[in-house]
Amino acid sequence: MSAKEAYITGIKRAFGETPYAKWLKDEGVAVYEGFSVEDVRDLEMAPWPRVGGNAVFITLYAHMEANIGLYLVEIPPSASLEPERWACQKILIIEQGMGSTEAWQEGDSRKHVFEWGKGSVFAIPTNARHRMHNLGREPVKFMVMNSAPQIMRGFNSADFIFNCPFTFREQYSGDDDKYFVESNTKYRRGRLGFHSNAWETNFISDAWGAQLQESMKAYGNMSNSFRMANKTYGGTIHEWPAGRYHQAHYHHPGALLHTLRSEGFVMLWPYEAGMRPFESGLGDEVVIEPFKAGGLYSPPGNWFHAHFNTGEGPCRQIAFFGGTGFGNVAPRREGRDGEEFNETHESVSDGGRAIRYWQEDPEVRRLYKSMLDDKGIPFDMPDSLFERPAEVPA
Ligand SMILES: [Fe+2]
Repeated sequence: MSAKEAYITGIKRAFGETPYAKWLKDEGVAVYEGFSVEDVRDLEMAPWPRVGGNAVFITLYAHMEANIGLYLVEIPPSASLEPERWACQKILIIEQGMGSTEAWQEGDSRKHVFEWGKGSVFAIPTNARHRMHNLGREPVKFMVMNSAPQIMRGFNSADFIFNCPFTFREQYSGDDDKYFVESNTKYRRGRLGFHSNAWETNFISDAWGAQLQESMKAYGNMSNSFRMANKTYGGTIHEWPAGRYHQAHYHHPGALLHTLRSEGFVMLWPYEAGMRPFESGLGDEVVIEPFKAGGLYSPPGNWFHAHFNTGEGPCRQIAFFGGTGFGNVAPRREGRDGEEFNETHESVSDGGRAIRYWQEDPEVRRLYKSMLDDKGIPFDMPDSLFERPAEVPA
């Protein structure tokens, strides 16, 4: 059995016993299960009486591992969904169409109304009442990532999510007129060159068009790491040029990668297979999963993964990281310049979680080049990236 098959078999067995898996059956909704999704907009949907629209629940294996919920909903032209209230975190991305959301706290007469279109991303404050409206002539499709499976598991109750009377005013007072307005609060996290570009905002108007800043996760990469819902839920929008790829790295399970533009593949392998899996005879543990615009995938926990662009233009993806505040408190580490140590971008050999280009298995680059050759797209990374820097001892 391959590493991928063993992972799928094991996680499905464990997931089947969770309250969320049982709730999906009781709710009677359409479910898509898989390692990845080719194009989320093409998934077949079925009526979901609770919200009054068509929907499909997407159970990716790494989301089973991470206790993360994901679904796609459709609102017919000029129609509205039922009002909703979920005692968990919800983050949305609009895949197509235009519309508005009303949001309010229980007992308040005042409602916030904000408009959105394709590419808008926003978080619904925990347990706030909200209602989605389609204001256009085409169906609206939006995707929701949520922490319902974790809450259901922790309290061993699915009903709690939909019947919790508590109003979390600390998170959303109901009076904040700027809550659903895109903010410009941006700052660097980590030392220059190994940093993330943090962006604190509860609303992004267009993930396809958002301006990004330089970062070094891929050669020539641009990114912005948004933090929503009081910094508990966030993600990254990143874009990198044709003929280039990301450094491999690993982290907790459940990050959702959604390709917005171009195509390529993700290469993944378990941490135990090491930094150079091909060289150490473990090449058959390496998984190569193609992606294209509209696609979804989620790397299993502690699997190295790297994204490769094989399209003709820049590749843009949005990643959502599930977070709840219920996890352990990770000790904050100070980096060599006194800034916060950015684990995902620092090398494994420095105590981080990334493999520098010069440290990686040469077979990775060879495979990528051969795939680019097949498509007639030039490889666009200088040899110097793959040479050990003079200051690093052999
Ligand atoms: Fe990642």
